[in-house]
Amino acid sequence: MAKRSSTPSILRPHAETAFAAELKALINQDKGVKPTGWNLSPRAVVDYLLGETLADGTEISPKYFGDRRLIEVAVASLVTDRALLLVGVPGTAKTWVSEHLAAAISGDSTLLVQGTAGMSEDALRYGWNYARLLAEGPSEAAMVPSPVMTGMQAGKIVRLEELTRIPSDVQDALITILSEKILPIPELNKEVQAVRGFNIIATANDRDKGVNELSSALRRRFNTVVLPLPATLEEEVRIVTDRSSAAAAGMELPPVKKDVAAEITRLVTIFRELRNGRTEDGRTQVKMPSSTLSTAEAISVVNQSRALTHHFGSGSGLEPEFLAASLTGAIVKDRGQDEPVWREYLDVVVRNRKGWEDLWEVLK
Ligand SMILES: Nc1ncnc2c1ncn2[C@@H]1O[C@H](COP(=O)(O)OP(=O)(O)O)[C@@H](O)[C@H]1O
Ligand SMILES: [Mg+2]
Repeated sequence: MAKRSSTPSILRPHAETAFAAELKALINQDKGVKPTGWNLSPRAVVDYLLGETLADGTEISPKYFGDRRLIEVAVASLVTDRALLLVGVPGTAKTWVSEHLAAAISGDSTLLVQGTAGMSEDALRYGWNYARLLAEGPSEAAMVPSPVMTGMQAGKIVRLEELTRIPSDVQDALITILSEKILPIPELNKEVQAVRGFNIIATANDRDKGVNELSSALRRRFNTVVLPLPATLEEEVRIVTDRSSAAAAGMELPPVKKDVAAEITRLVTIFRELRNGRTEDGRTQVKMPSSTLSTAEAISVVNQSRALTHHFGSGSGLEPEFLAASLTGAIVKDRGQDEPVWREYLDVVVRNRKGWEDLWEVLK
């Protein structure tokens, strides 16, 4: 049998592992007041998310690109007794921000519940190890705590993904947890009292609105922060460039260099125009496809076309031919509906745009 390497290479380390050095430097140099149970002061948490140069010269890389005030509001909500709800269209970094907030505040982003339609209350409260339950009856040893219960006991941030996909009656299990900060365990005639530092960061997609609306009782327990799509072309290009550079190492691709800047700008322009239903100069109306043309999707297109270029093309950079292939795949999700929209856009916009002749050649 082949000998296994003793340290397998992890595909995607948790934020607190990937950014352990930054977090350590922030903790060491944090002059602010830390809320009980927090690893960092609120200001240092915001610095971790938005990037900063520390007094000793340590560079904290930006994780989120956007409005500083938005992240300040998010962090401040977590200091209060309200939970945080991040909403926005898909691909606006809700999951990304919640992971980094948990890593910065609790040093642990792993307490995670993924909301689904078929979820039961156990996933928010606790379940049982049935073999032990049958053998010994209900006991603490027979309990299987949910991440929420673990977070309450340890005083840590718990992440709840896609809150509005959870059936309403199951969502309501959160009301007692968030208002009383306790989790009753009637079978043992006991309760878990949340330790300071516990709070919940939930995410919900705008597109899912109406699937399972939050009850007003639950909504009151959350402060809502809306994460917007990037306001300008430059901003979005910056996000896509930064995120695909970071992804390059993970995918064992060459680093992103200047030579891909032009292609990224063209890609993001196309995404924004199709998403907004008009060209960037505002002069031409275009039809919108059914596909979700998010920033996250643009990052995937860059990654995919760079992988194609690296393995099947010239090697480095991003060739228009491969960009075209990945782009079409991302935009045409529903052939009947999206293909005519995409063709019309190519015909009306791409064909006539100065400097885009090479892209038109490969796309037509
Ligand atoms: N404003 C932004 N700043 C930094 N990264 C962003 C931004 N918008 C999108 N991203 C990137 O998009 C990717 C997908 O985001 P994700 O958190 O999964 O979206 P959501 O949960 O909102 O659907 C992440 O890898 C993130 O880095
Ligand atoms: Mg998400």
